[in-house]
Amino acid sequence: MYRVAVIKGDGIGPEVVDSAIRVVNSVTDRIRFYEFEGGFEVFKRIGSPISEDDLKEIRKMDAILFGATTTPFNVPGYRSLIVTLRKELDLYANLRIIPDLSNGKEIVIVRENTEGLYARDGIGFSDRAIDFRIITLEGARRIAKFAINLAKERNSFITFVHKANVLKGDRFFREIVLEIAEREGVEVREAIIDSFMIKLVKNPWDHGVILTENMFGDIISDLATIHAGSIGIVPSGNYGDEIALFEPIHGSAPDIAGKGIANPIGAILSAAMMLDYLGLNGKVVWEATRRYVRYGNLTPDMGGTATTSEVTKGIISEIYSF
Ligand code: NAI
Ligand code: MG
Repeated sequence: MYRVAVIKGDGIGPEVVDSAIRVVNSVTDRIRFYEFEGGFEVFKRIGSPISEDDLKEIRKMDAILFGATTTPFNVPGYRSLIVTLRKELDLYANLRIIPDLSNGKEIVIVRENTEGLYARDGIGFSDRAIDFRIITLEGARRIAKFAINLAKERNSFITFVHKANVLKGDRFFREIVLEIAEREGVEVREAIIDSFMIKLVKNPWDHGVILTENMFGDIISDLATIHAGSIGIVPSGNYGDEIALFEPIHGSAPDIAGKGIANPIGAILSAAMMLDYLGLNGKVVWEATRRYVRYGNLTPDMGGTATTSEVTKGIISEIYSF
């Protein structure tokens, strides 16, 4: 039996996570779900977005399924739950898969999640401010291995996106990527971040596994989502050495919360990535979703009139038809 922590969060978070759980339960009976509370409401009570006891329990789980939380800004001392979990659990690899569900093509992005410009606070002086862009040997190695293994599994190659012509950190990172890829027999294509943005807009589907550092990954992975049709269908995984967290990339969408029309596909495909991670059958969920999208009524963000529940049922009946 696998143990999976569930954090549904706010807004449409609970709506789409419930759909994902229904889909998982239609594929396997080997997962038991344990629900945890976290986010701003918890912060107001205890001064942290998740309690120490819950965090301790969560560490013992096999995986985490996460919805979305509302993050108010301008609240002193508040750090969002997802950022807290990434840090506490050392989830260093952020994998986003941006699918074109009608033809099976995908943009695959591996973003380093713990280093670069976001690793530590900068320092401000009266006449300047300085941020640190940190790339360590260990950090570069582990993310390079992650992306190269993924490229192998997918029979693909790496597109390493960097600014090594200017940045010392990327030169360092590049050496490590090239060395490990050569040892593993994986092809590396290189792209400079600025001109790569144009390629990603014009010709998004042919870049194998895109590997890049934290801030570049932050920006290009958001840009890439425009090719998905709706932000509501894009899944992601945050992987560490001990545990991994799976979540749709969208937020809590307060504008449509409670209406029953949130697109559940991003959460469902996140659950599919979780099934793959656990060694269970995620492929069946991807395939069922692709099939459903070909003929089924979709939610309004994709031009349809369906409810969350109708799409979920449609995907589940495709799963049963295999
Ligand atoms: P958002 O992703 O919640 O919404 C952006 C737009 O996309 C809205 O029009 C929304 O209706 C639509 N949308 C998003 N997901 C959808 C779905 N599954 N189906 C149909 N339409 C969908 O981003 P926004 O509005 O910038 O943020 C809202 C809240 O979510 C904020 O408090 C923000 O901090 C939080 N947020 C949380 C994230 C997380 O928990 N990982 C990630 C991004 C934002
Ligand atoms: Mg972002």
